[in-house]
Amino acid sequence: AIPEQTLLSGYRVPCVGLGTWKSKPGEAGAAVKTAIGLGYRHFDCALIYRNEKDIGQAITEIIDEGIVKREDLFITTKLWNTHHSKARVLEGCKESLANLGLDYIDLYLMHWPIATRDIDGLYPKTPDGKIDVVDIDFIETWTAMQTLVDQGMCRSIGVSNFNSKQIQRIIDIGFKHPLTCNQIEISPYYSNERLIQFCQSKGIVVVAYSPLGSPQRPWAKPDDPKLLEEPEIVKTAAQYNKSPAQVVLRWGVQRGYMVIPKSVSAARMTQNIELFDFELTDDEMKAIHGMNRDVRCCTNSDATHSPYYPFHEEF
Ligand code: A2P
Repeated sequence: AIPEQTLLSGYRVPCVGLGTWKSKPGEAGAAVKTAIGLGYRHFDCALIYRNEKDIGQAITEIIDEGIVKREDLFITTKLWNTHHSKARVLEGCKESLANLGLDYIDLYLMHWPIATRDIDGLYPKTPDGKIDVVDIDFIETWTAMQTLVDQGMCRSIGVSNFNSKQIQRIIDIGFKHPLTCNQIEISPYYSNERLIQFCQSKGIVVVAYSPLGSPQRPWAKPDDPKLLEEPEIVKTAAQYNKSPAQVVLRWGVQRGYMVIPKSVSAARMTQNIELFDFELTDDEMKAIHGMNRDVRCCTNSDATHSPYYPFHEEF
């Protein structure tokens, strides 16, 4: 079985989950079914990935067939930026619940601290092509998310793409339901050390998105360096008879956070959970750390003018 971590809410989460960003509707549900057969129990979704319905159908079928029980699954999904006002938080959560065919979400995350206008679709733009941000403080959104837990619509709540100061603001206010998770970009190219340390020192579980360096990101350039082809990674992989992806993911779980590699291939999904029969040495861990470039894959650069843009801060 996959090792687990315990959230501040008391619920447990397998420390490898399946990512679903960029999994196409029609392919996402099939991937989830395959993954369940392989032993995955943790799934990372979001309203904005536009594949929740497909995933929900797969989950419903798998449960109806008696292959797993609802309580054996851990489903994360995320509130989108158009849904930050008090009323919209409730609507966003209900929409994801309906899409996923669930009566509760295990972990509901605020996808970004940034709020946008809530008409004209999920990516409202200003005439100059920037994201149409609005000044809704994420504290208002977080307050509304508390109610979702009270009403049993989600079991645990957390955030994604928050910096340490933004998290500290929430902690300082002192809410009934704790901030249990910060989902952030982490890979050997973006090691994010200080934010990981900060979150872990507060008992906040860290989940790494794009743990393989997001090779499929739509804005990748042909001459961008390729993480899974880095000689250091390839060499270490050969020593353990593992793949480069397994070494990169192992480096992650060994640093104490969870990873949610996306895949729609059974072979690669299999690799991505077989991380617990080898251990990297301190020197190997350090060598991979040395690949840090402090360059993000995911900058959300169209929204830097939001008063809540998270990445102006150092960490
Ligand atoms: P695929 O879905 O075809 O398997 P990230 O989670 O960092 O965004 O990385 C996901 C990308 O990496 C996807 O393009 C996925 O492609 C690919 N991928 C996932 N697992 C592996 C693996 N074990 N080896 C190589 N590529 C992988």
